Amino acid sequence: KKTILSGIQPSGKLHIGNYFGAMRQHIRMQEEGDAFYFLANYHSLTSINDGERLKEYTLDVVLDYLALGLDPNKCTFFAQSDVPQTTELAWILGTVTPVSLMEKGVSYKDKVAQGLNPNIGLFSYPILQAADILIYHSDLVPVGEDQKQNIEICRDLAGKLNRAYDDELLKIPEEYIVKSVAVVPGIDGQKMSKSYDNTIQIFDEGKSLKKRVMSIQTDSTPLEDPKDPESCNVFALIKLFADEDQKSQIAEKYRSGGYGYGHAKKELLGMITDYFAEAREKRKELEKDMDYVHDVLKEGGKKARERAETVMEPIRSATGLYRSF
Ligand code: TYM
Repeated sequence: KKTILSGIQPSGKLHIGNYFGAMRQHIRMQEEGDAFYFLANYHSLTSINDGERLKEYTLDVVLDYLALGLDPNKCTFFAQSDVPQTTELAWILGTVTPVSLMEKGVSYKDKVAQGLNPNIGLFSYPILQAADILIYHSDLVPVGEDQKQNIEICRDLAGKLNRAYDDELLKIPEEYIVKSVAVVPGIDGQKMSKSYDNTIQIFDEGKSLKKRVMSIQTDSTPLEDPKDPESCNVFALIKLFADEDQKSQIAEKYRSGGYGYGHAKKELLGMITDYFAEAREKRKELEKDMDYVHDVLKEGGKKARERAETVMEPIRSATGLYRSF
């Protein structure tokens, strides 16, 4: 069985880019492999310095995942901070990481450009991410396109550590990116991202969801004119929810004219509402049973620590790190 691993930062409300780009694959893959999924809360510290908020966001993401169908009996679901071996390995990886490699990191530059504080945590973020992946001997990492470089760096660092100690201490993982959903666009057509304020949240509903969908940017083609579905931000999102038949029917309506962007938005709104209806109900139920939610994390954390320790032990020994306990 392959080991599958992925993580999400608890740094705000999750959006449909997170869902289609990553979570849906995570939920599917729990059936196929030995899956590890975690809340990347150490990573969130690079942008959030507010303990109460971080805790709240962390539990939010747990509820989201469970409501969407993640089954803690089929995978190991845990908080990153429950596995201290992760930061231990990150330090060791840092000692074989050339500064120049980090300087090529595009997400650091992007985040600083967006106004995030340029701290060392943010700069060395890919090293911690590499440790996340490598500490379980992961084979496959299902993510969206924006994580591609981080996984490249991870492979690179694993090779460097193995060569430095002339030993197969770490397994080289591979990314798993589904092309059709690698970059889910936001309401302005750019990549959907919390930091661009262009998201549609998975668990939004009612007026607020409607307002969001109605504000998707479109061009000014008049209602009666034919339109090109492939260049429309609304259609790009409809594609995520519609089956093949629905897709071609709606595309046909675009092309034949008399179908306005307002019509398309209403159709999309209905699709989003229906698609997540069951999960929305389930989430409300789960919220009433936070003891269960904490138990899930406790159990997952224990399993994850045990696995991490089996990978960490030979590394401590190869590197010559002294331990008196
Ligand atoms: P994060 O929390 O930003 O995003 C979680 C997942 O959602 C995907 N994603 C998207 N996919 C397609 N279209 C979009 N618009 C979109 N927006 C987000 C992301 O690619 C990601 O898969 N660094 C990671 C968290 C992390 C991690 C790891 C991931 C930490 N350690 C180890 C994998 C393995 C991050 O910030 O993802």
